Formats: sequence, structure tokens, C-alpha cells
Amino acid sequence: MFGKRSVSEPAVGKLAAAAREPVAAPRAAQPAAAQPAAQPAPAAPSSAQAAPQASKPAARSVVDTRSEDYYQIKSTIFTALIDTIDLAQLAQLDPDSAREEIRDIVNEIISIKAVVMSIAEQEHLLQDICNDVLGYGPLEPLLARDDIADIMVNGANRVFIEVQGKVQLTNIRFRDNAQLMNICQRIVSQVGRRVDESSPICDARLLDGSRVNVIGPPLSLDGPTLTIRKFKKDKLKLEDLVKFGSISPDAARVLQVIGRCRCNILISGGTGSGKTTLLNCMTAYIDTEERVITCEDAAELQLQQPHVVRLETRPPNLEGQGTISMRDLVRNCLRMRPERIIVGEVRGPEAFDLLQAMNTGHDGSMGTLHANSPREAMGRLESMITMGGFSLPMKTIREMIVGSIDIIIQAERMRDGSRRITKITEVIGTEGDVVITQDLVTYEIQGEDEAGKLRGKHVGTGVVRPNFWERARYYNLEKELADALDKVNQ
Ligand SMILES: Nc1ncnc2c1ncn2[C@@H]1O[C@H](COP(=O)(O)OP(=O)(O)OP(=O)(O)O)[C@@H](O)[C@H]1O
Ligand SMILES: [Mg+2]
Repeated sequence: MFGKRSVSEPAVGKLAAAAREPVAAPRAAQPAAAQPAAQPAPAAPSSAQAAPQASKPAARSVVDTRSEDYYQIKSTIFTALIDTIDLAQLAQLDPDSAREEIRDIVNEIISIKAVVMSIAEQEHLLQDICNDVLGYGPLEPLLARDDIADIMVNGANRVFIEVQGKVQLTNIRFRDNAQLMNICQRIVSQVGRRVDESSPICDARLLDGSRVNVIGPPLSLDGPTLTIRKFKKDKLKLEDLVKFGSISPDAARVLQVIGRCRCNILISGGTGSGKTTLLNCMTAYIDTEERVITCEDAAELQLQQPHVVRLETRPPNLEGQGTISMRDLVRNCLRMRPERIIVGEVRGPEAFDLLQAMNTGHDGSMGTLHANSPREAMGRLESMITMGGFSLPMKTIREMIVGSIDIIIQAERMRDGSRRITKITEVIGTEGDVVITQDLVTYEIQGEDEAGKLRGKHVGTGVVRPNFWERARYYNLEKELADALDKVNQ
């Protein structure tokens, strides 16, 4: 059989001789030779033993329960498979043929070892094993789900997911930290990187665009830690955010006008608060004729316009060289005749270049930044510029900020797991040394329902003539703005 080592026959023979005992009932007395890899401690009588009496309702499904027994059976079959198969040859097969090959051998092992399981259970086990050998192992079923926002793996035995804003522990686990590390390696090798003790931190991307971070031992103490921000194929639109109650319909109309009249926008928020999603929503109001350049660490934005240039930063190579920073990209952008520049996340000295671009004829540029309030966002911008080594007086920096940023939109992940836009704020000027901002819309929490969901609403602050009124007028949108503000202020 292609894919097996040339010594496959004796190997299977030995396996067959050593493993006549049903695997489902591992006993301490089992010959050690049959289990070259560390065998898990003998478990209580297996659930699989109960399988022949399928009519008994008590018969637990080996697969569904994800019990010790299941992992033990899987581990035994997996070890036998690895002993039998030639991985180098397998790697040369296309995925379908490789799956077929694994299927044949696993079926053979199951019958030799007289493992008792139903067809469905066998199919599930096979899928699991194929994922281990060919894909991302236990992560595969999570990667296949579209409702998961984040996957967080803290060592082999603890896998958390975020679904609908809530973080929950799953029953998914890896065989051991070595398997987890192998999978991390497989992920990062796709972007030409390596993760090991000498370089334990690595950012990468899955083929589907999901953002990945790996940090391994010795920096992470309880095994490799893997964090995946799942890529959403169908990006949320502003209408979706209205539907979810993240923003009220009237406040959304204010945002539409802000987007269409080319205000420079900063989206501020904590980690995972929905900044990138909101940025993506705001790009929907860019005209199709405009030339837009996006700069990101890992391309997440999905602009629908035809004239978009997407740029991505580059981490250092294995020798620690070749970094292309966000600042390099933003500066290069300016030589590419952009009409709008979109920076995925402003986190360093590129803040200076983005502000300059906003100030010099690239109206309608946008970016996101980590901050817990619009005021804090201003402070963060200031410190990014001062820490970037620009020896400008604070007053000049503040004037630059005021001259560039028109609107700050604050996103927040609330304590009930929901994500909301909690502020639409405009930057209106400086008074002495202080940047003056005014809120146009804020989210007011009014209470909590029985299920612990927050109740609240978006309210206007009474501003009817915002600072960007003239701009809205220039784009013939003042009536729409007046109307939308009127409604939010009611
Ligand atoms: N208003 C919303 N309602 C429901 N889900 C949302 C909302 N906004 C964003 N999400 C989901 O939350 C997750 C995180 O969103 P997003 O990537 O935009 O956050 P972020 O603030 O950019 O995170 P990070 O700080 O890690 O870059 C995504 O899965 C996204 O689909
Ligand atoms: Mg983001």
C-alpha cells in the first residue's frame, strides 16, 4: 500500500500479534511493545465496551463524550498509524489521496485491534486522525465554525473560544504539548517562520486569513499558547451593527454622513472591541472612484471599492532582518498618490505620518487605536509621537492632532459580552494646552435584564451644528446630518 513504510508488513504483523486484545479495554497487563509511545494511565472500563449492546440507552457514544476512553483509543490507533505509515511519502500525496491512505490503514488497525465502535464513531475518529496528520489537528472543528470569533489555546489541555462575546472553555484538547507545538509550527511555517525555544514568539496567518499569534516555552510557562482571531468571510456591515443593537439607526446615519463627507476618523477601543470591524464598515462610504491604500499588520480589511491597494507589514526574518514597519508603509503610501489612507492599527511612530497625511490633502483617512476613551486616544497619539523620537513641542503635537483628526468613534466590549459603539466624538480645537473634544452621541446604560444583558440606548448630547457642518455642506449632506442629529437628540 503506497504511503506505508517498506517495513510495513512486519510492522503490521507485529502490531497484529501484539494487539489482539480489544483496545477499548486497556489493561496494565497489556504488552508494552504494543504501545511504544507513552500510554495514558489505564482507564476505568471503557465506554466502547458497552457499544455492542447498542440497544442499551446507557451506552455512551465514545466520540460524543470526548471521554478519556476516546482519547486513549485515538492515541493507541494514532501511535500504530505513525508506526505503520511513511510520513515522507504521505506528504507527497494530494490531500484527498492522503486521506484515503490514512482511512485504509486506520480501518485496518481498527479491525486488527478489534476496537468496538459504530460506523459514525469510526468516521469521527478517522476525521480526527486525518486532521492530526494532515491539518491543524483538534483545532480543525473550531476553525470550521463560523460563529467563533477567537480561539485561545493555553497549553494542550485548555482551549477556550469566544462565541457571541462570551469566552467559554471547550472540551477540545491536544494529545500533549508536543502535538500542540507541532501544529503551531505547521501554522507558522506557512508564512516562512519558525517557532522554537530560540524564537518563541511569532505572528502568522492561516490560509483563510485568520490572524494567529504563538508564544511558546520558555516564555509561556504552561505549554505553547496559541491565539487565533478567526477571519469572518462575511464581514459585518453597519446595518448588522444596527441589528445587533451595537448602534442605533439614527446614530448610524450620523456615522454614514461622517464617512461620506470625508472626515478623518480614528476608531478607538480595547482589544477585541470591534475596532477593525467598525473600520471596515466605515470604508463602505468611500466613493468607488477614489484610490485607497490600506496598511495593516495582517490584512483583515475587505474593501469593496475597485481601486484599492493593500499593503502589509513584514516581520523580521529568521536572522532578525528585513522588517518593514507600519511607518515604512505609511511613508511609502504618500508616494503612491493615495486619496485616502487606511491604517489597520496605529501603534507607533506611524501616527505622525498618518496625521501629516490627514493634514495634507488625504481627507477621509482612517485608523484604529487601542484606548478606552476618546480622551485617552488623544493622549495615546501624543505619546506615540513623542516616543517616536520627534522632538516637537507638545503644543505643536496637539495642534497637529486637532488639525488632522475630525472624529473619534469609541468601540467597547461591554461586560455582558456585547460590542457597542459607546461614543461618537468630534475634536474641535485646543484651549491653551488642552485638546477640546465634544461628544455627539453617547451610549447610556439604563440597567440590566434578567438574563444579565445590558439595557441602554444611544442618546444625542444636544449638538445640532457639529464642527464638521461646513464639510457636510460642501458635500451636500447638511440636510441629512441635521435630520440625523435631530433624531438622536430627541
Ligand atoms: N458590533 C459587533 N457585534 C457583534 N460582533 C462583533 C461586533 N463588532 C465586532 N464583532 C466581532 O468581534 C470580533 C472582534 O472584532 P474586531 O476584530 O473588529 O476587534 P478589534 O477591536 O479590531 O480587535 P483587536 O484589538 O484584536 O484588533 C470579530 O469576530 C467580530 O466579528
Ligand atoms: Mg483589530
